[in-house]
Amino acid sequence: MKQVILTGDRPTGKLHIGHFVGALRQRVDMQNSGEYDMFVMIADQQALTDNARDPQKIRNNLLEVAMDNLAVGIDPEKTTLFVQSAIPALYELTIHYQNLVNLGRLQRNPTIKTEIRERGFEKSVPVGFLTYPIAQAADITAFNANLVPVGEDQLPILEQDREIVRTFNSIYGEVLVEPEAVLATDEKARRLPGIRGIDDKMSKSLNNGIYLADDAETVRQKVMEMYTDPDHIRVTDPGKIDGNVVFYYLDVFAPNDPHVAEMKEQYRAGGLGDVTVKEYLIEVLEKLLAPIREKRAYYETRPDEVRAILRAGSEKANAVANTTLQKVRDAIGVNYFGS
Ligand code: TRP
Repeated sequence: MKQVILTGDRPTGKLHIGHFVGALRQRVDMQNSGEYDMFVMIADQQALTDNARDPQKIRNNLLEVAMDNLAVGIDPEKTTLFVQSAIPALYELTIHYQNLVNLGRLQRNPTIKTEIRERGFEKSVPVGFLTYPIAQAADITAFNANLVPVGEDQLPILEQDREIVRTFNSIYGEVLVEPEAVLATDEKARRLPGIRGIDDKMSKSLNNGIYLADDAETVRQKVMEMYTDPDHIRVTDPGKIDGNVVFYYLDVFAPNDPHVAEMKEQYRAGGLGDVTVKEYLIEVLEKLLAPIREKRAYYETRPDEVRAILRAGSEKANAVANTTLQKVRDAIGVNYFGS
């Protein structure tokens, strides 16, 4: 049996190069290795748990996120790309798993605690938001996924999902597959900073990102604005590499590049201007982004084709999820009229 991968993106905005190095490029490599059965889910239902009052935002970004995936190389012939809300079995699985988790455990989940703070939900947190780790256990188990690529911030969610699986299996028998998190292999890539400083991770909400959909001129402008070393004022001044966003990006996007090593040496010693380093970064990024942008442009003019891909993927995903749901119903014994 092939190993099964399930991973998801919330459609709350277009995907950026932080997503690319933190998740997407490995996703495409895993797809192309042919060693896995891969499901990529657009988690619109989960996105609604903290955007219930702005559903249009989720609708608008559904196709954007699908196009980002297709543009970087997700191939619907090889990967099942589908929409979460189109899979009714996920809702029912969520209900069954809710009975296996206590409220305190959810409230103590470090990811949820942080996200509640970030969203200003301290006074009133939507029930669906607090309980999204349970729905995520449904997403993962429905497809018998044993591998789940996620960002570092998601590890506590995955741990809770593993607990749900163990609890279910200990009560009802070995039905569910216990998943394992998969992180990006390049540690620096797991936490790509935004353009304005090393401390903030690139994120939609901070408006500090370079997007896969950005045109060449926008990429250039953003790189030119990028935070470097505030004490590196004259070209002749010695500069710092640590904390310098431009060099951080070069480590991630041009690893082991001898020209970068040379530039670092010269920058430290003094005599290398920020603009020269930035020009090189732009070159490196353009090499990566130009083909992605081109592929994305193809889909941008063909939304019906994208919708058809999602619809076909969702049909396939439904068949798999319904089989798991039936097993779950049988195991619990809520199958009074036959399975
Ligand atoms: N919670 C994930 C995120 O914020 C998205 C997601 C939803 C997901 N369901 C999933 C990821 C299942 C992996 C598996 O990025």
